[in-house]
Amino acid sequence: AAAARYEAESATIVKGAAESNHSGYSGTGFVNGDNVVGSYVEFTVDAALAGTGTIAIRYANGTTDARPADVAVNGTVVSAARAFDATTDWNTWATSTLTTPVKAGSNKIRLTSTSANGLPNLDYLDF
Ligand code: GCU
Ligand code: CA
Repeated sequence: AAAARYEAESATIVKGAAESNHSGYSGTGFVNGDNVVGSYVEFTVDAALAGTGTIAIRYANGTTDARPADVAVNGTVVSAARAFDATTDWNTWATSTLTTPVKAGSNKIRLTSTSANGLPNLDYLDF
């Protein structure tokens, strides 16, 4: 099936806020996670069938260092300290894509910062 888009500003945000002071985002803005370990954004996505799902995460990182984050699905880390590499500036967005096991129905996908620099800015997740 075609991917559905889940805007970060509509997801559950812990230690962060929806903002719109940079350009190029989808929806009404993006999430700026606090620059601490443990800030997270959790998306609830729907899978028609159990199996392997493809997740595409759109983000910006206007610094020169990667912003690592754990990607967890239903409480299991499926990509530890995944590097969200620099994107030149905060108005430039990139997509990081991975595959993961999913169950039929509702799935929780959480991105949690693992460094004191916090999360990259998050625009959306396509699933
Ligand atoms: C800047 C930028 C924010 C970003 C932050 C960061 O303040 O405007 O959008 O989240 O840097 O370093 O995380
Ligand atoms: Ca931030």
